[in-house]
Amino acid sequence: MNIEQAIAHAARQFKAAELYFGHGTDNEWDEAAWLVLHALGLSPVEEIENPALELDEVQSAAVEGIIAVRIETRKPAGYLTNKVWFCGLPFYVDERVLVPRSPISELIQNYFHPWLTQEPQRILDMCTGSGCIGIACAYAFEEAEIVAADLSADALAVAERNRSAHQLQDRLALVESDLFDKVEGQFDLIVSNPPYVDFEDMSILEQEYKNEPQMGLASGKDGLDATRVILAKAKQHLTPNGILIVEVGNSEEALCAAYPHLPFIWLEFEYGGHGVFMLRAEDLPA
Ligand SMILES: C[S@@+](CC[C@H](N)C(=O)[O-])C[C@H]1O[C@@H](n2cnc3c(N)ncnc32)[C@H](O)[C@@H]1O
Repeated sequence: MNIEQAIAHAARQFKAAELYFGHGTDNEWDEAAWLVLHALGLSPVEEIENPALELDEVQSAAVEGIIAVRIETRKPAGYLTNKVWFCGLPFYVDERVLVPRSPISELIQNYFHPWLTQEPQRILDMCTGSGCIGIACAYAFEEAEIVAADLSADALAVAERNRSAHQLQDRLALVESDLFDKVEGQFDLIVSNPPYVDFEDMSILEQEYKNEPQMGLASGKDGLDATRVILAKAKQHLTPNGILIVEVGNSEEALCAAYPHLPFIWLEFEYGGHGVFMLRAEDLPA
């Protein structure tokens, strides 16, 4: 078996096992390539020098091993490789955090254009998990001070590891906080991918999602428990020209029904994703 054949072999097994792909890939071939290359100590983001190279016995065993673990545990690939990419940046992940996949990455890469009218000085990443959104914002806005908050001490330990890896200790503060409880001051940009899965969707989650921390997903009956608090408290933490950007995924409909008078702007994505809104400070409830 060579590398190409090993990837095809893994992809066939993933398809037969009816795995779910929603954590960085959306098909069995990409997932197979990512895992097989990892098993062989190769990077999925660099060109493979010799894809026709025959695998030796040790390499074949490593490939079979990672295929078996992915199928038996149904863990997302990121938990098996402990490395994912978000906004083109590498992040360490494990079972303490959700695997980064938010479409907010596209907004960061576009510098939140046209919604941010001036360079933000302070940015809050509410519900930071691995730290991916806050850290990517730090790269996009090199002068900005970032605060990244999460209620989970476990998640913050992962965020801390990523903050060190990206050498952002001087510019990015990690805060253990139940939403805004321990967050101080005002921000030009508050960006959040909070938990937003409703009861009904939680009850039919694929096993891959069940392997993620449930407090990163579940948010009450209609999926809006966290977002309600964010909407209630965001204004006092925004500068007068500040903006709030929140992902609510499938809970978009419930949110519009719950807040018929708020002028949500639902953002569009070139590379997929939905359910992310923008509100200006002036439009938020006092
Ligand atoms: C959907 S995950 C997002 C993680 C990360 N921002 C990302 O995009 O990959 C939601 C995060 O919210 C955190 N969380 C849940 N309830 C919270 C609360 N009441 N206050 C602060 N963070 C909370 C979870 O620990 C989890 O890390």
